[in-house]
Amino acid sequence: MSIVLGIESSCDETSASVCIDGKIVSNIIANQTIHEQYGGVVPELASRVHQQNIVPAVHQAIVAAKIDKKQIDAVAFTRGPGLLGSLLVGTSFAKSFALANGIPIIEINHMQAHILAHFIPDGDKALPKFPFLCLTVSGGHTQIVLVKDYFEMEIVGETLDDAAGEAFDKTAKILNLPYPGGPLIDKYAKTGNPNAYQFPEPQIPHLNFSFSGLKTAILYFIRDHVKANPDFLKENMEDICASIQSRIVSILLNKLKKAAIEYQITDIAIAGGVSANSGLRNGLIEFAKDKGWNVFIPKFEYCTDNAAMIAIAGYHKFLKKDFANQDISPLARMPF
Ligand code: KG4
Ligand code: ZN
Repeated sequence: MSIVLGIESSCDETSASVCIDGKIVSNIIANQTIHEQYGGVVPELASRVHQQNIVPAVHQAIVAAKIDKKQIDAVAFTRGPGLLGSLLVGTSFAKSFALANGIPIIEINHMQAHILAHFIPDGDKALPKFPFLCLTVSGGHTQIVLVKDYFEMEIVGETLDDAAGEAFDKTAKILNLPYPGGPLIDKYAKTGNPNAYQFPEPQIPHLNFSFSGLKTAILYFIRDHVKANPDFLKENMEDICASIQSRIVSILLNKLKKAAIEYQITDIAIAGGVSANSGLRNGLIEFAKDKGWNVFIPKFEYCTDNAAMIAIAGYHKFLKKDFANQDISPLARMPF
């Protein structure tokens, strides 16, 4: 039997999870609400709240897993990418816990872990087969990744400016919606008309993305309409959100389609916080019907940041005895 404890603290979620023989038996997530009033994550506050949350989160994960901490064989932690102060809390905790219990540590790349969340067993749900393509869309990243093996991944396309999550959150801010605005745009979009307004699709070469032009177009669009009608936002929120979401989703899916054709791959996955978006999930399912793809969409609880994805990634490194040294430090930027 192998038991891996996973720790995630790269941004504003403090999370701990226990994985026993490749199965996730607990996944505790402590959200930080303090950032809402500032309209975005404040790094210094995030690391302080991680310090408060990490011990209770780990304790709860161990209790929920019905194990004793002495049974844990290794600690996997997010080394990067992310906010340095936040990563330091998880990394320091993982190192101390491992030292105190005489067990090894395993470093995990947060973006790889989002993808490896697809290997968390879920009943008889099929797992993607290597090689597959994964569109990884979060608050900080937008990448099309060619996944050749658990830890052999190649980025074949990425954003040149804002991430898809940022595109959602920044446009939500223009609409006076609180942070994080992505889920709210999704909520309003459900009852809106996606064809009500046409926003531009950027012409970016090959498999890369850009969202900054879209953000500017939306800013001017809202400014001009509100000037003509101060109630424009209130009266049309659903249609505006549906139209914005529809454009972000079409930008993402058109590039994914291009990548699938270029690499001749039919197993297609999505991962990261924005993979919780209902427009993206439904759009991908429609695309798949059309193209004959096998699509892999994570469960909601594994879309946004969580330690279960760190624990499952850690389990696959544990099997290879791929351990890190105690002198390891976190990395704000961390290539695959
Ligand atoms: O992966 P994640 O939890 O954290 C990062 O690693 O960045 O992603 C957070 C991002 C935020 O930008 C949030 O607005 C977005 O995911 N997000 C969504 C939805 N749920 C979360 N965006 C659109 N629709 C959603 N339902
Ligand atoms: Zn993430």
